[in-house]
Amino acid sequence: MIFSRIRTRKPVPDPAAAFAPGCPLGHGGPAGQTVPGQARRTPSSLFTPAFTDPDQASAFVRQFHAELPGAGNPVQREREVLDEIARTGTYRHTPEELAFGAKVAWRNSARCIGRLYWRSLVVRDLREVSSADELAEECFEHLRVATNGGRIRPVISVFAPDRPGRPAARIVSPQLVRYAGYPDGAGGWTGDPAGGQLAARAADLGWKPGEGRFDILPLLVQERAGEQPRWYELPDDSTLEVPLRHPEYPWFAELGLRWYAVPAISDQTLEIGGIRYPAAPFNGWYMGTEIGARNLADADRYDMLAEVAAWLRLDTSSDRTLWKDRALIELNRAVLHSYQEAGVTMTDHHTESERFLTHIAQEKRLGRETPADWSWIVPPVSGGLTPVYHRYYDAVDPATRPAFVAREPW
Ligand code: ARG
Repeated sequence: MIFSRIRTRKPVPDPAAAFAPGCPLGHGGPAGQTVPGQARRTPSSLFTPAFTDPDQASAFVRQFHAELPGAGNPVQREREVLDEIARTGTYRHTPEELAFGAKVAWRNSARCIGRLYWRSLVVRDLREVSSADELAEECFEHLRVATNGGRIRPVISVFAPDRPGRPAARIVSPQLVRYAGYPDGAGGWTGDPAGGQLAARAADLGWKPGEGRFDILPLLVQERAGEQPRWYELPDDSTLEVPLRHPEYPWFAELGLRWYAVPAISDQTLEIGGIRYPAAPFNGWYMGTEIGARNLADADRYDMLAEVAAWLRLDTSSDRTLWKDRALIELNRAVLHSYQEAGVTMTDHHTESERFLTHIAQEKRLGRETPADWSWIVPPVSGGLTPVYHRYYDAVDPATRPAFVAREPW
């Protein structure tokens, strides 16, 4: 249960003790302490008192105003927020707070090499949307806005947050666009093994699986706890895909490979100032290696290296011939080349590594650290050729907020 988990995570001030005399911000004493001379009230709802952590809310409001000094009166806003939490168990972000929080969650993403552009995130405020049907419709619109004819825009769509006694809808699919995977009965797969579970689940719900290697999975949305998710076929005009060709080898097209334009993570919770937005899909653009060195190359994904090596007539008799490495490079060249030819935004690992160091330097000038996870930042090919390999990074504090966090079970 999400509520009890949140309630027991850490003691929070008793709302009955809010507005104790003496504290200008209306804070009471330490957690659960009764203010002398005041009777301790029993909360009317089990969930109301501790649903949104007031300390998280305060910290966020202060950060917002510290980074955006022109944005109004911080003391007044903090008082307002704490009062709203005391009355309702939670509070509502202003559209400005929401946009700031979403951008900073990106800035705080320790695994992302593409953070230089965190300010440019397009924030779609869809907090009024909570039904599965409407949510799916807006996810498709998200893809259209993000795709932008190939000039990919980083976008986040923020749907209704969890409220006391009313957990919000969840997107079950890990990304808005994903390919299905089907066990081939001989221990192998057709399609993307990473899309195997979702394909099976969608089929259980009534989706008719195709038989292809690149069948786009329907979007699965669960409106309420305990309900079955509903599935929605993605409209064609929301899913741009790029067929893969090689700049020099015409045979490469015969491999029949393709990938989609927009990577949009949809199974993480956006947490801002104690408020949890479990449905908040976000996207950037691809770095070539994600597709060329992982999705199409990993042994537990499309596993294409042997086939590419065969076409290249490489000596595969021993690992020491570096046939995998050579096939991998040609696969990655094909990915970068094809997106470029198709006019779809994609970055390469050399460029993006440089940009990330620019980002770190820029943040440092602003007095901020850039926490980063080396093992995620260093690209999966030619690591040592990129400058991000040759250094360490500020430590990652898992308590940092705003952040994208793993979604809790209902
Ligand atoms: N690596 C994931 C994929 O290949 C996408 C993760 C997000 N990537 C991004 N460039 N924003 O689908």
